Amino acid sequence: QTGMFTYDPGFLSTASCQSAITYIDGDKGELLYRGYPIEQLATQADYLDTCFLLLNGELPNETERGDFHKLVTNHTMVNEQMQFFLRGFRRDAHPMAVLTGLVGALSAFYHDSTDINNPKHREIAAIRLIAKMPTLVAMAYKYGVGQPYMYPQNNLSYAGNFLRMMFGTPCEEYKVSPVLERALDRIFILHADHEQNASTSTVRLCGSSGTNPFAAIAAGVACLWGPAHGGANEACLNMLEDIQRQGGVAKVGEFMEKVKDKNSGVKLMGFGHRVYKNYDPRAKLMQETCNEVLAELGLENDPLFKLAKELEKIALEDDYFVQRKLYPNVDFYSGIVQRAIGIPVSLFTGIFALARTVGWIAQLNEMLADPEYKIGRPRQLFTGSARRDVPAGFKK
Ligand code: SDX
Repeated sequence: QTGMFTYDPGFLSTASCQSAITYIDGDKGELLYRGYPIEQLATQADYLDTCFLLLNGELPNETERGDFHKLVTNHTMVNEQMQFFLRGFRRDAHPMAVLTGLVGALSAFYHDSTDINNPKHREIAAIRLIAKMPTLVAMAYKYGVGQPYMYPQNNLSYAGNFLRMMFGTPCEEYKVSPVLERALDRIFILHADHEQNASTSTVRLCGSSGTNPFAAIAAGVACLWGPAHGGANEACLNMLEDIQRQGGVAKVGEFMEKVKDKNSGVKLMGFGHRVYKNYDPRAKLMQETCNEVLAELGLENDPLFKLAKELEKIALEDDYFVQRKLYPNVDFYSGIVQRAIGIPVSLFTGIFALARTVGWIAQLNEMLADPEYKIGRPRQLFTGSARRDVPAGFKK
């Protein structure tokens, strides 16, 4: 019945809930986590401070900071049985397929944190998920390259531990590079939360049925995988590599003409956003991080970085993009810096999921803490056949 519902093809892009966690002003290009600008958190806090902030609403004091870091560190190992779960996958399985399975499988191990309506259970599930995601992502990577898993080490930082689990081997001491450690920690901060995006709405809707926290987060991992969402960083890097193969900067004009041709179906991946109709503040910070890491690694002339900057320059001066308010989003530069760190393209979205886990949990807990919340049940605008009868004699 038209008039009863507002039909929105964007599904849920009307206000789906109220929240006090993250604020985005799409026109100004502003992003605040619990009121703090992303630019300040990315340079004056670390990822675990940001996790504490998103979960509790305030930055930690010194004692809280130490306790939280220790709590997370002491939950980084996963049950040894998880290795047998991994063995069921083909070695060439996409890491997001593996991660979706691994995160859901956590539900089978932690019975003291599966009752989503019990605040104590939610609290320990949050710590376990934040602590174990780096271990699971690194295990998915090691399984794919056929190397032994590296156990987490409690004397390393959150990002440092992840780097060692990814790139360390039992054959030699792995030295964590402070530049890569800082860059990765910043990448985690930039991806930590982003209001009611597709995967966060998925986690809220899934958790509202009363399922366990691990299953709800696994649903978020599955949704984030899509190229229109978290999979855009992988798609963007593949796009840059394609253009590079075809001739690089010299071919940018030709590529942009294809993007502007509606029938080509070609999009400038890493550009545009459902909310930002100005520059995504995370893209600026990601480009700065890119500069720092490439300079540190002596890769200032990285051809893909030059190509990305050329694409951005052309797009920001081209009417097609200006009129549609299309600007770089968080995914445009994140692939280049992750590739420089040594992370394979297929793992980019896994890193996004690792970092976004705290945002999903904070948003889920905010919903569950509201005594008024009920199971989500979006309605529809029915456009099918009116009531009719099966023809007599239809079934012989
Ligand atoms: C993330 O929601 C979040 O917060 C997500 C995220 C988070 O942190 O959780 O920010 C992470 O998902 C970032 C977005 C990553 N996705 C991509 O980079 C994929 C490429 N971008 C597009 O798919 C698109 O921009 C969307 C889906 C991201 C946003 O689409 P919009 O804002 O709804 O814009 P639209 O699809 O309505 O397009 C408006 C116009 C259209 O042209 P017209 O029909 O008006 O002629 O702009 C065009 C679109 O065709 N357009 C693009 C484009 N994005 C939109 N044209 C070329 N290249 C693009 N990237």
